[in-house]
Amino acid sequence: MIKKCLFPVAGYGTRFLPATKSMPKEMLPVVNKPLVQYGVEEAIEAGLTEIGLVTGRGKRAIADHFDVSYELEHQIAGTSKEQFLDSIRQVMSQATFSMTRQQEMRGLGDAILNGRRLIGDEAFGVVLSDDLCIAEDHDGVLAQMVALYKQFRCSIVAIQEVPEDQIHKFGVIAGEKLKDGIFQVTDMVEKPPADQAPSNLAIIGRYILTPDIFEIIENTPPGKNGEVQLTDALLAQAKSGCVLAYKFKGTRFDCGSVDGFVEATNYVYNNFYLKGKA
Ligand code: UTP
Repeated sequence: MIKKCLFPVAGYGTRFLPATKSMPKEMLPVVNKPLVQYGVEEAIEAGLTEIGLVTGRGKRAIADHFDVSYELEHQIAGTSKEQFLDSIRQVMSQATFSMTRQQEMRGLGDAILNGRRLIGDEAFGVVLSDDLCIAEDHDGVLAQMVALYKQFRCSIVAIQEVPEDQIHKFGVIAGEKLKDGIFQVTDMVEKPPADQAPSNLAIIGRYILTPDIFEIIENTPPGKNGEVQLTDALLAQAKSGCVLAYKFKGTRFDCGSVDGFVEATNYVYNNFYLKGKA
């Protein structure tokens, strides 16, 4: 079954400057946990315990977060403050972490290709941790997708309906409906103007990918903004085989934008932190 999950975390996070000048965007805390930890917890819940981080320059804090901090831990050992480390200690005991570096920001497709050496020849998950997904009354979004993978054995992208004025920010799919909330992808466009979009079904930052995607990415020329787009590679995969789009159950917050980040913070504070669940 799927055991590995890639976290492309090499991006610059320019929308959060100056906060992200020397600190990775993925370490921004939503209440008391960094974004990347939420993503890793979601992966672990789905059974994906071999975590691969595709990092870049200036991202050391992410690797350090998933490692022991001897001085701090020695200092607070045996005090009431130790409980604040419970969640990260649990993550560290349940998962393993490997890193590789993307040397130039050549796009999400390129970041995933860089992760190939950590994945090998098996299906894997991908989490863009700036998309914070909360599925309170359901399994986590990745767990939902793993269940679907068991049934269909092909690449899967998570989608949500977005309003027309938001469409230009997303990869958008067209597809044939197989079941409620499940589509076989027939077309995919990266960040189209709303009037040229094939639908209002937008791809968000959760994927299950079959390993043939690596060779497809290798043969995918740079697309929009000169970047190697995962969307272009997925379209090629959809045309030669099968890619599913899955309308997940839950809520996604775009924590790569200031508005979405503040929204997520309020949500987590009110629904988890104040209720003693964070
Ligand atoms: P974004 O489009 O959010 O870019 O990337 P960004 O650089 O992180 O943020 P802004 O737009 O400058 O504010 C989506 C995801 O893909 C990763 C990012 O780290 C983020 O998780 N990514 C993107 C890479 O790892 N490498 C790339 O070359 C591009």
